[in-house]
Amino acid sequence: MINSENLSLDKKNIDTILVIDFGSQYTQLIARRIRELNVFSEILPWDVSAEKIKSLNPNGVILSGGPESVTESNTPRIPKTIFELDIPVLGICYGMQTLAEQFGGQVTSSKNKEFGHAKIVIESSSLLLDGFIPSSSVDVWMSHGDHVSTLPNEFNLIASTSSAPIAGMEHANKPIYALQFHPEVTHTKQGKMILENFTFKICKCSAKWKIENLIEQRINEIKEKVGDQKVLLGLSGGVDSSVTAMLLDKSIGKNLICIFVDNGLLRKNEAEEVEALFKDKMDLNLSVVDAKKVFYRHLKGISDPEQKRKIIGRTFIDIFDNEAAKFKDDVNFLAQGTIYPDVIESSGSESKEARVIKSHHNVGGLPDDMKMELVEPLRDLFKDEVRKMGSELGLPLEMLNRHPFPGPGLGVRILGEISQEKVLTLQNADAIFLEELTKAGLYDQVSQAFCAFLPIKSVGVVGDQRRYADVIAIRAVETVDFMTATWARLPHDFLSHVSNRIVNELDGVSRVVYDISSKPPATIEWE
Ligand code: XMP
Repeated sequence: MINSENLSLDKKNIDTILVIDFGSQYTQLIARRIRELNVFSEILPWDVSAEKIKSLNPNGVILSGGPESVTESNTPRIPKTIFELDIPVLGICYGMQTLAEQFGGQVTSSKNKEFGHAKIVIESSSLLLDGFIPSSSVDVWMSHGDHVSTLPNEFNLIASTSSAPIAGMEHANKPIYALQFHPEVTHTKQGKMILENFTFKICKCSAKWKIENLIEQRINEIKEKVGDQKVLLGLSGGVDSSVTAMLLDKSIGKNLICIFVDNGLLRKNEAEEVEALFKDKMDLNLSVVDAKKVFYRHLKGISDPEQKRKIIGRTFIDIFDNEAAKFKDDVNFLAQGTIYPDVIESSGSESKEARVIKSHHNVGGLPDDMKMELVEPLRDLFKDEVRKMGSELGLPLEMLNRHPFPGPGLGVRILGEISQEKVLTLQNADAIFLEELTKAGLYDQVSQAFCAFLPIKSVGVVGDQRRYADVIAIRAVETVDFMTATWARLPHDFLSHVSNRIVNELDGVSRVVYDISSKPPATIEWE
């Protein structure tokens, strides 16, 4: 079994704002905004234990919004420990409502939900709204059904709107504040200033959470934990595992053993590029396993997408296990590029302190007799922080800003049965598309772009000959969170140029189509 003790930050010397999660879609955004102020912030579920809260030694707490109603029984409440700690508190939306209720105020359910832009009026001066002019009106973002209808005892009104007369309040003699609107979203024009007031003026944090300092700190932590022992890492060439590799390399050098499995379903030249970067340029201890044939053999005759995914996952684990087993007497640590959103997603707020080890890098099911301890130095970082760290560590920007690529790779982009020939055609078509996107300056303007190989033949003419040949679909989407996406309005001339290149340069492709479906109802990948 893998021991789940993880590397995490030495929190004793760093100011921390704790975000208590009541289930809002904006919870992660609150933590990110605080980190953008160079102050560490961590999210914990509302039902977390008192010990965990105390162990963080937070300088202040922000209570997030949430979908529930405090007017109903058995809905989440603020842990009592937070008030015992006697530190500043800021409730947002649901956080404000439960704060009001827990201090004896009244919350009322409205039939009409308020969602969107609103204007608040500053009712009285408050350290939280320092810098705002009294009686002025400020643009904010609202998203709520319930509202505080009676102020709790000892609380004063600091802001109101026409639909929520109590849109902001503060305790008369404790640093407890609450807002009905969302300062963390950019639609709230001066939201950043409000969060700065809370973080610096009220919680008195100092801005010490900086990526450069963090790298040094992480390197020291890894050295302390691992000493002169060996660490194994499954390197995928993606941002997270690459940054993990660089951090470990800086910490323990040749005691890091990286394994890269070429499953034959990667982008064109990807395996060679990973090898050139990490082995030749960065001089990492990297072993590249050419497993293309094994994958193609296992996938032969399989066209069901779910089955293909399962086979790819299982084959990967088998190969990684085999490679890892070669070092089993030697290696006590397994490194993973787990990042903060993975951690949050795998330990939902209903689970008390649940820490599910995510096998997201396709590294799961290592043999039971390999008692390896996990090393996860990016465990508390957001993706953009990981990118910044990678850039400081010398990884090329093209790699750090690359569009996401699914674990099963081209396996989900070739519809129907997979073959080496189809992989080659798709890799070439995809490379043309991405090269042209980059040349046209469009790559960074879309969130994800790729080609898919369709399981049909379509008629075409070459010279005087009719022939039945392959169809390539081009897909480009714009999205923030990949949960919803719109198809990218790429210029027609550009699409025409890409189409010409693909059919002219690739034998066997007679037709190119552009996917104009958004998600939902379509998904981003074609599967
Ligand atoms: P869909 O197709 O569900 O994809 O709209 C949403 C995002 O997830 C990526 N994706 C994956 N990423 N392993 C991954 O690491 C996978 O198995 C996988 N499947 C889809 C997809 O590329 C898109 O960015």
